[in-house]
Amino acid sequence: MYDKLIIYYFTGTGNALAVSNWIAGVATNQNISVEIRKITPSLSFKKEDISKNILIGFCYPTHGFNAPPIVIDFLLKFPKARNNIFLLNTRAGMKISKIFTPGLSGLAQLLPAHILKIKGYKIVGFQPMDLPSNWISVHPGLKGKVVDSIFNRCEIITQKFAGKILSGKKIYRGLISLPIDLLISPIGLAYYFYGRFVLSKAFIADSNCNNCRICENECPLNAIIQKYGRPFWTNKCESCMHCMNRCPQKAIQTPHLFVLIIWWLVFSAVPLWIARWLAHDANFFAQNFDLIFYLAMAITGLPIVFFSYRILHFLMKFRFINWLITFTSLTRFNFWRSYFAPKRYL
Ligand SMILES: Cc1cc2nc3c(=O)[nH]c(=O)nc-3n(C[C@H](O)[C@H](O)[C@H](O)COP(=O)(O)O)c2cc1C
Repeated sequence: MYDKLIIYYFTGTGNALAVSNWIAGVATNQNISVEIRKITPSLSFKKEDISKNILIGFCYPTHGFNAPPIVIDFLLKFPKARNNIFLLNTRAGMKISKIFTPGLSGLAQLLPAHILKIKGYKIVGFQPMDLPSNWISVHPGLKGKVVDSIFNRCEIITQKFAGKILSGKKIYRGLISLPIDLLISPIGLAYYFYGRFVLSKAFIADSNCNNCRICENECPLNAIIQKYGRPFWTNKCESCMHCMNRCPQKAIQTPHLFVLIIWWLVFSAVPLWIARWLAHDANFFAQNFDLIFYLAMAITGLPIVFFSYRILHFLMKFRFINWLITFTSLTRFNFWRSYFAPKRYL
């Protein structure tokens, strides 16, 4: 059916690479040549890949009920062609007791599918894959045993999917959750235009940081720079969690106290204060209170986040502030495990 398989992948903590490797393994067993290409901010498409006998696959994590912005931007730059395409998004899989629970895709497949369809590609596969959740800013990393059992299950599902796709079948399993995906799709859009910038400021390096610069050198988005001799997360960061899970000193934290205060200011206090002030005596403003509230949130939110993160970064050089921010971060606790896909799959 196909002479060649090209897999484009983006990954933060290895799940999407593991899936790409499983699919490549199935193709190799069928004597189909395979190329796996990592999506980077500078990667471009090769013109010789436009051939009907070449199957192209995209593997990437789900971020904020959407595909990661770097993947969307890469697809927008993709040339027009008629190749067959499959999309596989890894999601936040968990295991509660003996039950494997799925993540949620939202726009993670729908948006890339539409972009590629408009460019002339034919979608032959939609497949979500519920690998271990890596969002350790929000919850502790899963236990090793749970990670292993989720991986064993997903390897089998992926190999079945790859076998069918490579033999020319179409699989649209990702569409089973279409109603719920459509329902949460506005959150996916809000994440792309707004949420990701807020989340990019949810990382700090604590006093254990020895400035080895591994986070900076390995960041898939070149989003970490040096400021005052310490790592600083720019708004290119997509919260892929690579840095936090790879830091040998476990010195990268989510500053939960800072995040709580800033989010309260951005999503509640400041817009409420502006809306109340404008609605004070003018009839029009009083009647459109909600609209003004959300408009004020949209306009003032990012400047507040960016400005306060800069101040925090500066203040972190003072011992007490550094201690306070680290002390009020949940990620510093030993029980708050980190997560990276097991080495044998990468
Ligand atoms: C910022 C962020 C947002 C996420 N949003 C979602 C989501 O909307 N739905 C979901 O199922 N998983 C979500 N996840 C979990 C990851 O998609 C999941 O763990 C994925 O398998 C990680 O793949 P990777 O190791 O290739 O980066 C999110 C993770 C992060 C860090």
